[in-house]
Amino acid sequence: MADNQPLFQRVAVIGLGLIGGSLASAIRSHNLARVVVGFDQKPEDAALGVDLGVIDQAATTLEQAVRGSDLVVLAVPVRATRVVLEQIRPWLASDAVLTDVGSTKSSFVADVKAVFGKLSPRVIPGHPIAGSEKSGIRAANPDLFANHKVILTPADDADAAALSGLTALWEGTGATVLTMSVAYHDEVLAATSHLPHLIAFSLVDTLAGEDQNMDIFRYAAGGFRDFTRIAASDPVMWHDIFLSNRDAVLRVIDHFTQDLDQLRAAIANGDGATLLRVFSRAKAAREHFSKMLSGQAYVTNNTDKQVIFSMQPGGTVRGDIRVPGDKSMSHRSIMLGALAEGITEVKGFLEGEDSLATLQAFRDMGVTIEGPEDGFVRIHGVGMHGLQAPRGPLYLGNSGTAMRLFSGLLAAQPFDSELTGDASLSKRPMGRVADPLRAMGAVIDTAEGGRPPLRIRGGNPLTGIHYEMPVASAQVKSCLLLAGLYAEGVTSVTEPAPTRDHTERMLEGFGYHVHRDGATASVTGGGKLTACAIDVPADISSAAFFLVAASIAPDSDLTLRHVGMNPTRVGVINILRQMGANIEVLEERVIGGEPVADLRVRSAELRGIDIPEDQVPLAIDEFPVLFIAATCAKGRTVLRGAEELRVKESDRIQVMADGLAALGVETTVTPDGIVIEGGQTIGGGTVESHEDHRISMSFAVASLRATGPIRINDCANVATSFPGFVDLAKQTGIQISTEGEF
Ligand code: S3P
Repeated sequence: MADNQPLFQRVAVIGLGLIGGSLASAIRSHNLARVVVGFDQKPEDAALGVDLGVIDQAATTLEQAVRGSDLVVLAVPVRATRVVLEQIRPWLASDAVLTDVGSTKSSFVADVKAVFGKLSPRVIPGHPIAGSEKSGIRAANPDLFANHKVILTPADDADAAALSGLTALWEGTGATVLTMSVAYHDEVLAATSHLPHLIAFSLVDTLAGEDQNMDIFRYAAGGFRDFTRIAASDPVMWHDIFLSNRDAVLRVIDHFTQDLDQLRAAIANGDGATLLRVFSRAKAAREHFSKMLSGQAYVTNNTDKQVIFSMQPGGTVRGDIRVPGDKSMSHRSIMLGALAEGITEVKGFLEGEDSLATLQAFRDMGVTIEGPEDGFVRIHGVGMHGLQAPRGPLYLGNSGTAMRLFSGLLAAQPFDSELTGDASLSKRPMGRVADPLRAMGAVIDTAEGGRPPLRIRGGNPLTGIHYEMPVASAQVKSCLLLAGLYAEGVTSVTEPAPTRDHTERMLEGFGYHVHRDGATASVTGGGKLTACAIDVPADISSAAFFLVAASIAPDSDLTLRHVGMNPTRVGVINILRQMGANIEVLEERVIGGEPVADLRVRSAELRGIDIPEDQVPLAIDEFPVLFIAATCAKGRTVLRGAEELRVKESDRIQVMADGLAALGVETTVTPDGIVIEGGQTIGGGTVESHEDHRISMSFAVASLRATGPIRINDCANVATSFPGFVDLAKQTGIQISTEGEF
């Protein structure tokens, strides 16, 4: 420890097997306690512990071990817990912290309550997720927990000092500490650890009992060996675990048995569709394996991944590229394809975290979706009324679009659902969709301030309304139109300024008429969608980074292919052209109801402008990079009427102003915009992206005109909208490298 102050004075480790011995040894080697005393029911193991340097002192009785200890760790077999607790009870100091390392937590809590009459706030159950095929004190390894997870399951009234001391102790061993409730721990472990062990034991036992078992084992391929490796685990330990986590294990066994029966029936009936649905959902789940561990439908791990962009200053931007598919259209293609009758094939689908979250969520509602493979997705539509209740909350990662559009669709379903998201999404306002949906008859609970999670009660009939949107939001409009597909009568939405109309266009493409009258779009409920083919163009919001890059970097000449040019999205081109950018629009064409073009952009002297307010919704996602363009322009750029930027993935006005300030560029922030005096020198420095993908990419572009290296923190979320950004940026001449796993 840095200040050499051990966390605990005297730690008693009861039970010196692999886990107890390793913890004792880690505490000693990291100097986390003044003295580590060990007890084992085999006194020779405790004595060996001293010889091996695993513990400082061997106790020959439990009294000797526990008396005077400020931390007592039970590392005994789960089934021995109650007896040991009874034996240590007289010697356990009232202010000592008591913890354990067992694989099931409700049984530990039940044992503590049975012996002590209650769960004292200083009892903090624990479970390190680490192990080895070796056992016993000789296998004790001080590094066993490094880079592993340790789960603590403190009660609501747990003592804060006890919890922080124990957390610091485990972190001192190199582990990452997670906290969760006892019940959740046992459910998660029943599913992710206990059930697989049961299946492995059972499968090997079944096959060993078959007559031809010799042959089965002789011909067993690698897959069998991998799958059944865990059947070599300790039978006594597993017998303990199953008996003590009985309820949670029985629940997952029942689930599994039902699913296995369903597969059996599908095979018996020649029902290939069910097999394909289950297998493709499982394959996708396996690919998102680490994301699935928390038991949620889809989890981005981005907060765990530290990705830093490291930029060298200067460069020229050249080449001929195609950026990934449009995010808004990718989301909508999955949603409408899932609800359509027939098979929808999508080309150019964006394989970014946000649209993958939508795809996964529909799989979790029983929709068979093949792919994505190189942007190709095949959706087996289930019809307007074919979605099934998801088993858990639908986790939508970073995606505001997914959450707002889903809320409209799910409000109309016969089942309950819950929508959750990452830290950024959890702060974003959802009242803007929940309020008008409630006016249609939906029953939706939000967290405080109208924030996620959203809990949507199914089975409530919706009635069409007319809604005048207070903010220009395509997400709100789309949410209400999607709810309107299911509502009685007509649902109409009037927007205060034009916003992206992909929902309206795509509904038409699926054969669902959307009536448009000026600023109002309306649908009549009760119709159906018919599958179609969708060709998603390149995302103009991703192209925007390169439009600015090639404009501000000297000697640049870049062509961007197949860019979506929907008139409700081209604000960035209008604004850049007004600033003097040299952007040529080539090969204009219409593909699947959406205009598309190639764009050629060359370096230009940009000048500052007053950005017309009517362009704000048409360039809403492009402002971070437009601020970089404004910084490089001659003269002043003024943005007004853009308060919506404050509730995007981050407060994009403030976060951009702070990032620019870190590079020595002064700006004036206003409540609804910003004033940027162009022509200031962009220096080197470190920028905080606040985990906002568009902030990260904007500052990567800024490096082209910087005078020193730029580091951008927390860039993992670039994968939400622009997978492959770094490679494409490098290919065109931006001098970018990454640190951390990307
Ligand atoms: C989107 C609408 C916009 C935009 C977002 C995608 C959509 O949000 O910022 O990235 O796909 O409908 P708002 O509707 O909140 O402006």
